[in-house]
Amino acid sequence: MFSTNKTLVAAAVATLFAGSASAMSGSSDGASGEKINGKYAANYEEIIRAADGKYLDAKVIEAILGKDATYGRDGLEGKLDPANPYSFEVEDSIDGGNHGNAQCKIPAAFVEVHDSAKANYYNDSKFVANGFGTPIAESALAKWNIVVDGDGKGLPDPSVGMTVEEGAKIYVQFCGMCHGEFGEGAKGYLPLAVDENLVTSAFDDPAPMKAVGNYWPYATTLFDYIRRTMPFWTPNAPFIGDKGYMGMTGYILQSNYVKLDENGTEIQDDDFFNSEMLMKANKFMKNQGNFFCDHRPVIHNERCMTNCPDAQVGDGKGDIHHYKQARRLPDGTPQYNVPQRMHEDPPGVGHSGM
Ligand code: HEC
Repeated sequence: MFSTNKTLVAAAVATLFAGSASAMSGSSDGASGEKINGKYAANYEEIIRAADGKYLDAKVIEAILGKDATYGRDGLEGKLDPANPYSFEVEDSIDGGNHGNAQCKIPAAFVEVHDSAKANYYNDSKFVANGFGTPIAESALAKWNIVVDGDGKGLPDPSVGMTVEEGAKIYVQFCGMCHGEFGEGAKGYLPLAVDENLVTSAFDDPAPMKAVGNYWPYATTLFDYIRRTMPFWTPNAPFIGDKGYMGMTGYILQSNYVKLDENGTEIQDDDFFNSEMLMKANKFMKNQGNFFCDHRPVIHNERCMTNCPDAQVGDGKGDIHHYKQARRLPDGTPQYNVPQRMHEDPPGVGHSGM
């Protein structure tokens, strides 16, 4: 059906590659037949049919787009519409158009990502999408490059915030239906506020609910988590914004009775909650300091239930009564990482005492 266009197509192919010397020398074009607009094989439907409809298969893509399409930037150039970052280089009939299988589209932004990845990370000219998903564009990634660390690195400027009362209103509007107005949990979704000790006093007490107040080590990462993941269906929502996320973080910390200083100063409704307040609360998270790196070696002992070799019994000498006692804190409770808790060892190194 395109045979009358043969010469036109050939001219288009020539134009396509004329501007890109490296495309000519660096990679050969696998699809040898006619091409539509110089971009993809005219018999694409046959190719897909022959492959059982597996358009996402790398080999099929190569057959349709040409080998160069699977070899990075040089191969992709010319197949994109620079005016449309989500341009596609195949006909709608192949991938279903805008509402169809977006996997087959190669956004122009891919070229930028490829460039940057090449320069910064892999230096690998074979960094390609191959049709199995598409590398995210940096412009799209930037929206999520919003990490806040435990130490507060990455927090918004102190001018960004609102009163805890305003934060509470936003919280009720966007979070209350799942987490409860007061963080008590709703409709089977988890509570955010508890006033319960993390450790039970009797071994047969039910396990306490873990939530922000008794479990989370940092207030800063609470802000980070909420902004990055909530509300569940539309995280990092522009209509909430950093100030809204900051305000509701204040409200959640208040609901968990997190204090602001050694004197037990509580978070007030009319406090302007910003990154400075957050950093104050960050020092008084109840469970901070109780997370340890566990550097116990991984040992693959053979399982043994009876007549075990001495090396596997007790302290390794064959007597079941000779085992290493758990070390205890001065109050008598057996604990992991006692030397670290007692500041005999620096945090995060080794493990002993249990
Ligand atoms: C549609 C229901 C829904 C809405 C609305 C919602 N969340 Fe969540 N939230 C969840 C679910 C489900 C989880 C558990 C997610 C997981 O563990 O992967 C969760 C987890 C959380 C956690 C972590 C709790 C913990 O201790 O592990 C926080 C904090 C949180 N949400 C805050 C919020 C805030 C603040 C909002 C409003 C901006 C909000 N959520 C809106 C459903 C929701």
